[in-house]
Amino acid sequence: MKRVYIETYGCQMNVADTELIFGVLGREGYLRADSPEGADLLLVNTCAVRDNAEQRVIGRMGELQRHKRPGSVLGVVGCMAQRLGPILLERVPKVDLVVGPDGYRNLPELLGHAHAGQRTVDVEYRRWEHYEDIPQVREPGPTAFVTVQRGCDYRCTFCIVPTTRGPERSRLLADVIGEVRELAAGGTSEVTLLGQTVNSYHDGTSDFADLLIAVGAVDGIRRIRFTSPYPTDFTPRVIDAMVQTPAVCDHVHLPVQSGSNSVLRRMSRRYTRERYLEVVDALRTGMPGITISTDIIVGFPGETDDEFADTISMVREAVFDDAYTFKYSVRDGTPAVKIKDHVDDAVATTRLETLIDVVRDQTRRRNAARVGEVHEVLVERPAKRGDLMLTRTRRNYVVLVDLPPAAIGEYRTVRLTGTTGSTFTGALYQPALAVL
Ligand code: SAH
Ligand code: F3S
Repeated sequence: MKRVYIETYGCQMNVADTELIFGVLGREGYLRADSPEGADLLLVNTCAVRDNAEQRVIGRMGELQRHKRPGSVLGVVGCMAQRLGPILLERVPKVDLVVGPDGYRNLPELLGHAHAGQRTVDVEYRRWEHYEDIPQVREPGPTAFVTVQRGCDYRCTFCIVPTTRGPERSRLLADVIGEVRELAAGGTSEVTLLGQTVNSYHDGTSDFADLLIAVGAVDGIRRIRFTSPYPTDFTPRVIDAMVQTPAVCDHVHLPVQSGSNSVLRRMSRRYTRERYLEVVDALRTGMPGITISTDIIVGFPGETDDEFADTISMVREAVFDDAYTFKYSVRDGTPAVKIKDHVDDAVATTRLETLIDVVRDQTRRRNAARVGEVHEVLVERPAKRGDLMLTRTRRNYVVLVDLPPAAIGEYRTVRLTGTTGSTFTGALYQPALAVL
């Protein structure tokens, strides 16, 4: 038996792609290895969104090279492979193959070349590629990622993803539903639909509203999440479908990037601050209690103190429940490279710290006020530390609860008993018996 070890960096789509690669290689007789020692094939599935993500991978590749034995193969796949292609062969001397997100079907053939001593690069875009015939090999569990759209046609000026993942394309609704049915039959009750602008999903006949309704109608699916939507693709039709589909969870991750209209324009985001807030309002009106998290970039070229202040006020005005915050990272090949007015790194660092403080403070206070609430949770898996189980509410609160492993996959009602500021502890909730 041959063994493959895969290390995955970056977003959920990379996690889903790694499951796909296990599927491609499983058909070739490869078994999954949990550590690089002694593996016949070592792959790193990479992210190219920010420079620090890439530096980490370069460092890690250096370490992995040491696990390479005669006859074993080392490969880089994913967005960084697509972005750098042959350059990676120079940077990492023992790398045998470099394969972009549209090339995974060819892995067996490329492995053949590698065994023959040939180093290869496959970074072709294949706009038809959905890997429909390849069964993903997932970690067993009650939740699953389902890729419904690949690539991106939006051209946010800071972003490398359109280059690394190629043009946008949606899977056919029937194919997605077929996969979700299989998952449900295997005991999965929560699916997260994935796409770079997932709510712009359109398969030629059906849009994202149709998709939500159809997934929600699959027997056994109790929860639907999706990531990441684009603000202006929340049409009234899509919001209606969310409201009318009970399985759709009360949480949306909605990247805003900046609170300043001038920065949003320079980023080529297709909305203003006001339009974004309207979308937030429409979501909160349609689904009271919905939580909203976001992505924010500071230090975008030309960002002034006033523009940054608009981002801070946006965090307060939109009352985000959580935010992933990033310092702008220049990506060669993106339009923003041409904006000459770079923000000093020390300034960007200070802004990032300020922003993190504001977000953390807001989150901590909101979460403290939530202690005592009663929610239904899905028991997902053992928590990293201690004997507690990690569970999640429909609003995406993580709640640690004292439950046996046998409860994994079950739904329970819990009362929130405490919070660290970001996650909660909870206890099984027993409503007081009614007096007869
Ligand atoms: N549409 C995708 C975006 C992928 S990139 C999605 O929503 O999943 C994920 C996040 O990384 C973006 O929302 C943005 O906040 C951040 N990001 C992208 N390019 C960046 C860059 N050049 N510098 C810093 N952050 C970046
Ligand atoms: Fe990137 Fe903008 Fe697409 S952030 S993935 S170009 S929507």
